[in-house]
Order: sequence, then structure tokens, then C-alpha cells
Amino acid sequence: MRIHTLFSPLNVDELYFTGKTAVVIDVLRTTTVISTALLNGAKEITPVNSIEFAMKISGGGHVLLGGERNTKMIDGFNLGNSPLEYTSENVDGKSIILFTTNGTGSIVRTKFADDTFIGCFNNLQGLAEHLLNLNKDIEILCSGSHGMFCLEDTVCAGKLIRKIQKLNDNIDLSDASKASLELNTIFGKNIFEMLSETEHGKFLIENGFEDDIRYCSELDVSNLIPVFQNGVIKPFIADQD
Ligand code: MLT
Repeated sequence: MRIHTLFSPLNVDELYFTGKTAVVIDVLRTTTVISTALLNGAKEITPVNSIEFAMKISGGGHVLLGGERNTKMIDGFNLGNSPLEYTSENVDGKSIILFTTNGTGSIVRTKFADDTFIGCFNNLQGLAEHLLNLNKDIEILCSGSHGMFCLEDTVCAGKLIRKIQKLNDNIDLSDASKASLELNTIFGKNIFEMLSETEHGKFLIENGFEDDIRYCSELDVSNLIPVFQNGVIKPFIADQD
């Protein structure tokens, strides 16, 4: 099993993922929102890479529109991009169309992958165990920020790799994966502190979202693994046969 890490979605095009198994990470806050919404009973989430497309497929009020532009809720949308909004009261049984600045575009970029799993600190242990059982080569895609590297996604990737290594020490790592592991060793001990000190973390705090940072820093609080297949994200359910 080999694990490679991509520090930005712009490193590769959509065809790169053809037939591969991917994990997309956007800790602040898209992948944490997705994990939370499904945990709280959302039926499915459709990630999109433009507001116009979100509006176009929203079908006159049958689904919820969620997301943000520059951290702010979008006019005409029902929910923003705070995981704390995705309560069971708001999302249970609902289909959600999600647009966010970086995260949803990264997920859509993996659309030709066999499977794309959605990772964040909240669901990391369950995801590590699942990936190890799958025993396939993995591409971890860090969403980054506007095409650039960001620390929080890379530390999360490194922590995921560390968890997989603890379960099986015979994993082949690319140079980028080795670098992620090192960044987790340096920055991953206090996740809340690390998130608060990142560029996007500081921006979120300035905009009143400190509680989101605390929520996004919670480690291994969910066993739900979101999977993106055929254009929608649902909880992964193992084959029963
Ligand atoms: C993104 O996709 O860039 C983020 O999730 C932004 C945010 O914090 O809402």
C-alpha cells in the first residue's frame, strides 16, 4: 500500500484521479461540515464548484443550499459553512448542495476516482482503519487555500498517515507523505492551537468563528466515513454480502 499526498488541488487535473482511491481534506471547514451534516442525518450532499451551478440544480426549494464565499453565507442560501449550523434539527433527512471556496472544488476534482473519502480530524481514526482494510494505494488531496499550501490540511494528512502506520508499519510513503508526517509531529500535538495559528484559522477567529475552530479540532469523535461517488456524498456502508 502506497500513500501519496497532494498539497494543492492545482498540482493535478481531474484525469489524474481516474481509477484511484482518494481522500479529500479541508479541515477548516468543508470536510468537517460534510462529516457533521451526515452524522446528523443529512441524506446526501452534492458538492459543486460554482454558486451558479448550485442555484441551477437546487430545484426550487426541495434541497438545502449550504456554503460560503470568503467565510460568509451566500445570498439566497439556507446555511453557511459553520459545522455548528449542520444540526440534526436543520439537516436530518435533507439533501444538501454545498459550495465552498476551496473544499467542494477539490472534491469535484476527484470525480473520476473509484472512491473519494472525506477526511477531517473528527473522523480520522475510523478513516485510517477503513483505508487500511481497503488495502489500496491512496491519494490524499489537501484542499489548501486558493491553490496554495495550507498547514492544517497537511497536518491532518500527516496524522492520518501516522494512524495508518500505527496499524501497519509496512506502508510505502511518497516524499510529500513523509513531509506531512513530519509536519504532524511538529504541529499536530495541540490541534486547537495549531488551527488557531494558521492563516485561515486566524481569519475565521477575526470573523467570529472561534467555536468552529474548537469543533474542527476534535479528534476521532465520529466513526462515520463520507464517500463521494456518482456526484454525491453519502455515509460509507460496507457491502453486506
Ligand atoms: C473552503 O472551502 O475554503 C473553506 O471551507 C472555507 C471556510 O472556512 O468556510
